[in-house]
Amino acid sequence: MIQNIRGTKDILPETIYLWQYLEDKFKTIADLFGYKEIRTPIFEKTEVFSRTIGENTDIVNKEMYTFKDRDNENITLRPEMTAALVRSVVQHSLDYNIAALRLWYFGPFFRYERPQKGRYRMFHQFGAECIASPYPESDAEVILLANHLIKSLKIDDYTLLLNSLGNSASREKYKSALVDYLNSVKNNLSEESKIRLEANPLRVLDSKDENDIKALENSPAILDYLDQESAEHFNAVRNLLDNAKVNYTIDNRLVRGLDYYNHTVFEFRSNALGAQDSFGGGGRYDGLINQLGGKDTPAVGFAMGVERLLLILEALNAMPIKPNYTDVYLVITSDENLQYAFEIANTLRSRGIRVSTEIKRRKMKGQFKEADKLEAAYTIVIGDTEFKERKVTIKNMASGEQKLIQYEELNEFQFQLQ
Ligand code: HAM
Repeated sequence: MIQNIRGTKDILPETIYLWQYLEDKFKTIADLFGYKEIRTPIFEKTEVFSRTIGENTDIVNKEMYTFKDRDNENITLRPEMTAALVRSVVQHSLDYNIAALRLWYFGPFFRYERPQKGRYRMFHQFGAECIASPYPESDAEVILLANHLIKSLKIDDYTLLLNSLGNSASREKYKSALVDYLNSVKNNLSEESKIRLEANPLRVLDSKDENDIKALENSPAILDYLDQESAEHFNAVRNLLDNAKVNYTIDNRLVRGLDYYNHTVFEFRSNALGAQDSFGGGGRYDGLINQLGGKDTPAVGFAMGVERLLLILEALNAMPIKPNYTDVYLVITSDENLQYAFEIANTLRSRGIRVSTEIKRRKMKGQFKEADKLEAAYTIVIGDTEFKERKVTIKNMASGEQKLIQYEELNEFQFQLQ
């Protein structure tokens, strides 16, 4: 038997309603905030990601599914959307001058990570990106959108972590202070952090290694290095969130795993998840559009892991009720009655009633078993008498009540459906 690839999952018909429930919410909430959907290819030229996410990040270094196609072109299965979306915005010269570009997306992403609970090689993200504004109200807007979604899913056990990486001048000043500090505790750092210290020092702050965490106890805090412009921006974002009564925790070690961020960064974490506790994150990326060949344009956004949202819903018992897919099961007792049964099925379907018919030519018992399995609200039996007299027998499966009516009455029949 051929099995699926490690780190991927089949979403089976039994649980598809959970995904449809989430997809509905994504669309509804994005609509509420005036965001339009965008869909781009799931693979891109490798440089779309390698240049923007950063040559020294885990994603680019270790996790990208990159291959050469038959034309010897370097192709990468998208590990995230932001860079791909910006590629598309620049390529099509989507206008962000008259109206801000507010975009959302949902789809599959690929990272070659070690699979574990909440971490897969193919996973899904819902995200939103707001392109056009350098002002803190757009940072606050995307955070509010994410928060609105989380609340609408009835998730209350989560933390929003907030930090600022400042503008590039502030960040350079901080980086040099951090490098000095890290060099002073270098002997206590893990091998991986020693490498990061050379290649991408901010990422050392992200380490989960216990020794690193200890060594970082007295590290300088980035918020102390923000210049006036950066500090004002951050305070304004905080004020907007405070006024909107959004709870958050300042975490001056939060740097995020992608290089394109400046100013605000944020992450949503939940205790319901275990080791992979971050279920969403984002921030401002003012340089990215220019980097991909567009005009210098500020932007901010976030993405959420859909599998992780589902794990939280499950842990919190906040799953939606499983829907029923069949209103009527049509029991057909002989081949002779088939045409008549199909006529009935079509009449009902044109009224919007969901009908399944017998297609295995079984005895009545087998057909009623299927009706039970489908949890059909009604069965309609087409036997010889019904066929000859153009009647139907309708049975309400919950009450057991049964009625023999004329075919013509079927149009007015009041089905009691949830
Ligand atoms: P990210 O933090 O790399 O950010 O990913 C966002 C979310 O995707 C994570 O919080 C997590 O829930 C989910 N995720 C990431 N990797 C995996 C995995 N291997 N398995 C399951 N879920 C995963 C970004 O991707 C940025 N593009 C977010 C952004 C948008 N920043 C600005 N705009």
